[in-house]
Amino acid sequence: MGKIILTGDRPTGRLHIGHYVGSLRRRVELQNSGEYDKIFIMIADAQALTDNADNPEKVRQNIIEVALDYLSAGLDPSKSTLFIQSQVSELTELTFFYMNLVTVQRLQRNPTVKQEILMRGFSDNGEDNKAGTPVGFFCYPISQAADITAFKATTVPVGEDQAPMLEQTREIVHKFNTVYGPTLVMPDILLPDNAACMRLPGTDGKAKMSKSLGNCIYLSDSAEEVKAKVRSMYTDPGHLQVSDPGKVEGNTVFTYLDAFCKPEHFDKFASCFVGRKSSFEFHNLDEVKDQYRRGGLGDVMIKNFLNEVLNDTLEPIRQRRKELEQNIPYVYEVLRKGSEVARAAAAETLADVKRSMRINYFDPGVLDALIEEQKAKYTL
Ligand code: TRP
Repeated sequence: MGKIILTGDRPTGRLHIGHYVGSLRRRVELQNSGEYDKIFIMIADAQALTDNADNPEKVRQNIIEVALDYLSAGLDPSKSTLFIQSQVSELTELTFFYMNLVTVQRLQRNPTVKQEILMRGFSDNGEDNKAGTPVGFFCYPISQAADITAFKATTVPVGEDQAPMLEQTREIVHKFNTVYGPTLVMPDILLPDNAACMRLPGTDGKAKMSKSLGNCIYLSDSAEEVKAKVRSMYTDPGHLQVSDPGKVEGNTVFTYLDAFCKPEHFDKFASCFVGRKSSFEFHNLDEVKDQYRRGGLGDVMIKNFLNEVLNDTLEPIRQRRKELEQNIPYVYEVLRKGSEVARAAAAETLADVKRSMRINYFDPGVLDALIEEQKAKYTL
């Protein structure tokens, strides 16, 4: 059996560099590796609606933003199927059947759901009259299991925050196959291989890059915007004078360098380390870190270098986005065609599921046997 990828993002905003190093860059590499038979990349609008029911316009507007980010980052519709979740109605049917295999108590223990309920102010602990948790939101891990299994995915490349979703999916697969017989494919998570990419912090050093915190660098930011954001980045608050020893751990500039630096950058951007007062020659990131720890290497220099490194990655993405923005009909055509392909794939799995559950009453051949079986019960 071949290797199949499914992954996706909620369309609640443009994608940022945390998405890029956490998953998007990896997807493009996997796509181009030729090792996968099929790759499905989903814009999870239905999941986005689970906590945006009163703001469907936000979700609707961001579908194109995410699609533009995907295509400009290098996802190629001739190799990967890009589609919109809500257009594959088979997914909701699968979700409905899987719901019976999961307990409320198990969902309540899902760490990501727990944390998100707190973050979104849904928690209904009585004290502060919170809005409560929408049932659809509470169940989204189940719908995510439908997303993954519908495409018979073997491999799900996602960030660390999605690990509990994969666990939940694997439990559902196990349970389904135990109760109804071998049907669903057991998926594996594929996490980023570098700690800095697992969860890229915000430019302010906060644990997560998020739109509401205003600490994101977007893939679509202009060179000027990136420069201003890098200039204001959190470093080591104890590194007051250039001559002071600096800390690399927890220093956001170095975390970003860990995520983005390539060997050729040291030669290409060597001029960043040539200053009026002092100059350095570095050949790799460890040498930069050592010098920063010893002291003498200022934040301005490392920020200039990071800015160059980021732009080296972002400029081609920006250029492709500019072109695609002038070709919106093409982008929607990619999504429309992709959604059709995705729908056909999900329909096959739904048929398998119904067959295993024996709720395929009117399938060819099945109805005749069913009639015979029931008639026998009433034969006088
Ligand atoms: N939950 C993911 C996110 O927050 C989006 C998503 C929905 C997804 N269904 C999925 C990711 C299935 C991987 C597999 O971005």
